[in-house]
Amino acid sequence: MKYDFLPFKMAATASVWLLCAGWATAQPGDIADEVSYTNDIRPIVNNFCTTCHAGEDPEGDFVLTSYEDVLRHTKDGELLKRINDVEDPMPQNGLMPAYMRRLFKAWAAQGFINRGQSRPATERQQMTQFEAPDITPIDINDQGFEMLEYLQGHWVGSMNLMGQDFDWWAFDFRPIAASHIHAIFEGGTIGNLFTSFFVTEFRGRRTIMARNGGLLNGIYRTSYFVLDKVQYGRDWARYRLVDAHGGADIMSMELTFRGDSLEFQAWTSRFGLTEPRPHMHFKGQRMHAELAATAASNVGFPRNVVDFDFTKGLPKPTWADSYPMTSASYIWEGGQQPAPTIEEMGKRAKDPRRIDQMPHLSRLTVSVRRTPTTSDKKLLVYLSRDPLVNPQGTFIKQYGYIREDLLNTLLSFPELAKTQSAFTFTYLHPGEYYLTVIADMDDDGFPSPGDVTHARRKVLVKPKSHARISISDLNVAN
Ligand code: HEC
Repeated sequence: MKYDFLPFKMAATASVWLLCAGWATAQPGDIADEVSYTNDIRPIVNNFCTTCHAGEDPEGDFVLTSYEDVLRHTKDGELLKRINDVEDPMPQNGLMPAYMRRLFKAWAAQGFINRGQSRPATERQQMTQFEAPDITPIDINDQGFEMLEYLQGHWVGSMNLMGQDFDWWAFDFRPIAASHIHAIFEGGTIGNLFTSFFVTEFRGRRTIMARNGGLLNGIYRTSYFVLDKVQYGRDWARYRLVDAHGGADIMSMELTFRGDSLEFQAWTSRFGLTEPRPHMHFKGQRMHAELAATAASNVGFPRNVVDFDFTKGLPKPTWADSYPMTSASYIWEGGQQPAPTIEEMGKRAKDPRRIDQMPHLSRLTVSVRRTPTTSDKKLLVYLSRDPLVNPQGTFIKQYGYIREDLLNTLLSFPELAKTQSAFTFTYLHPGEYYLTVIADMDDDGFPSPGDVTHARRKVLVKPKSHARISISDLNVAN
């Protein structure tokens, strides 16, 4: 199992809601309605398969990204076999709900329809009702504002994501405006996942909201959450944020602070398709506090001022023109070549806040010149607070590996496929970084003896800038 794909399972709720309407009333047995690739199969595949079977380096060496791909693997019987195989299921963490698996069968039986005669929107809307709950936001003029302050830090710890354990994980939360704090996980080839918290006016209250989402295999998603619960203990404080439209039954996150530790959990229901289930559980310690402190003094954080105004409510997402709106989630599905810019995707999804409206953040493009030795190797592209290599480029080691205290200063750690030689960090905190590109010679996803690096490099990223750096000396063997 490759660790680089797993974070995206959290983001992979992207498109299954498309089918909520139809599935809610689907009867066991045969499916009378037309089942097409575009309307029915592609959303399932995008939600359950392409975290692994897509991109530059797919699992099992095959992709399920086009009609032809899915057709081929369904026709040869292997796909139907594996999605129904209790012993050896696909996806690997368990069988999908029966009605989804049944759709594949019906699709095959009906002759693999590609583009369906899209059922009229009104008909779909009648298939299910969703009553949005009455969410009462916490008034941060009374309590809860301090959550923004508590969040500051480079949180280093361990993660459980969809039942998978990761011994090392980090979130670099830093202020980006007087009342806005942000962190991003960059996965590289497959995509990314960000979460930011900001002060707003929502439903007549001054409160805190979160914006969470990212880009996964060309699918753009952003979901909005609102603070609806605050609890205090003798030495801890807990904050719950729920889907700003569908409430806790759709999605929620909970953050518990105790001294310098943070527990960050999230639950999701696949847009109402299931009961909310644990999705993510992070536990970490605050480290390298000066990173957030410096950012705070640069942007005048924290102040109880509105960063983004939602007094008029949240706009209706594009998808909610055709389906019941269960969630404050803005989605744009890929499949278009060439892919539009991320700003354009946000506009098409009707995301009320887009990357071009985020304050203070920057981009950094790293280009790497590959040599014959590193031409077919994965690249680990690390941004860290402290240097990981000595000036000549060899690892600063202890017991044969990069020193643990130095690795703990990792702030962003995307991985590039064998075919890629450039990467752009988006939503990047401005500041100083050490950049270390590592050719992963033994393909273990980790800097280890034998891997190839380059002379030590430092980058300065200014606020609201697009910095560029190229590495042309990737030739230092460890
Ligand atoms: C978490 C990663 C992951 C997800 C998600 C996943 N797969 Fe796989 N899949 C793999 C890996 C790894 C293999 C190769 C090992 C094996 O066959 O078990 C594989 C193999 C397969 C094979 C066998 C190919 C062959 O010829 O032997 C099929 C078919 C398949 N997957 C279909 C699917 C479908 C359909 C989905 C979504 C419903 C899916 N997979 C979701 C990781 C994944």
